[in-house]
Amino acid sequence: MTPLLDVARAVRSLAAGELVGFPTETVYGLGADASNPDAVRDLYLAKGRPSGHPVIVHLGRDAVLDEWAVDASEAARRLVARWWPGPLTVVVAASPRVSRIATGGLETVGLRVPDHPVALEIIEGFGGGVAAPSANRFGHVSPTTAAAVRAEFDAEIAGVVDGGACGVGVESTIVDCTEESVRVLRPGAITVEMIGALLGSEVLVGGTTRAPGTLASHYAPAARVEVVAASEIGARAAELAAAGTRVGVITEHGQVSESGSAAVVTLATVESPEHYARILYSALRSADDLGVDVVVAVRPERTGIGVAVADRLGRAASGR
Ligand code: TXA
Ligand code: MG
Repeated sequence: MTPLLDVARAVRSLAAGELVGFPTETVYGLGADASNPDAVRDLYLAKGRPSGHPVIVHLGRDAVLDEWAVDASEAARRLVARWWPGPLTVVVAASPRVSRIATGGLETVGLRVPDHPVALEIIEGFGGGVAAPSANRFGHVSPTTAAAVRAEFDAEIAGVVDGGACGVGVESTIVDCTEESVRVLRPGAITVEMIGALLGSEVLVGGTTRAPGTLASHYAPAARVEVVAASEIGARAAELAAAGTRVGVITEHGQVSESGSAAVVTLATVESPEHYARILYSALRSADDLGVDVVVAVRPERTGIGVAVADRLGRAASGR
């Protein structure tokens, strides 16, 4: 079983070139010394992630943008001044200090200062950039607890630091700041509207295949995922159950009767877009643990972080 590490041990492991799972406010990351090519190579191997896919470099609160970026735009500066530490990754031209292994060979880098006391203690104790993708195997559901990280990895990592369940639950918003207009490559807790309001300028959305978190099929459990309107969820679950399918529902209050069917298990009952984001990945993981065949998930409201939930559910629904 993957060991649980304390912060001091995690810092020593990073310095020794080992891989360490750690909590952030979004999801758990799998960290490696961003300046150590062997460690970053091991990170790609452990995840089963194709090389050439860049990872985010995580920095401490004392980070100076110009040490990691070249000619960072005014927009990039304003975004990080407003939302670091926080669930925001900026893509900027990489300074020579950034290992081109961490950027997947690109001349740009994704940078973020996470808003989690344990993450910050580790990164600041380590004193350098920590390359960290989500701590899951490539294409699989991101982990939001230390237990989920331990279920993904074994001897390939030094261990994981347990910081409890992640508060946000979906990955950071990624904003490409290398062009004239900023572009949101991956939606998250910091919404397009929030970014537009801060910058007072046009915000482009999507339109690139550069980010692996933006492949059509990603974040997928073994179970098939269907996304349906709240008013249809009870009927759809009953229909699948009647056909002999083991169904897990992510529902809203009052949509699926508890006495309904032994073949229908309630994975989660969603209360708000923020709550949906927080429970999404643990609900998808529990579906697999319970041997569910099909997850019927209520379509999220497309406001605020609901846009990010809809994005991840859509990718989970497009299968493995
Ligand atoms: O919330 C998060 O961002 C989590 C936690 C651990 O911080 N990390 C995370 O990392 O989601 P990962 O590797 O699963 O996703 C990184 C995303 C990928 O979609 C990647 O392509 C994009 O960041 N990215 C990183 N550098 C990039 C670059 N130079 N250009 C375009 N996309 C980049
Ligand atoms: Mg990921």
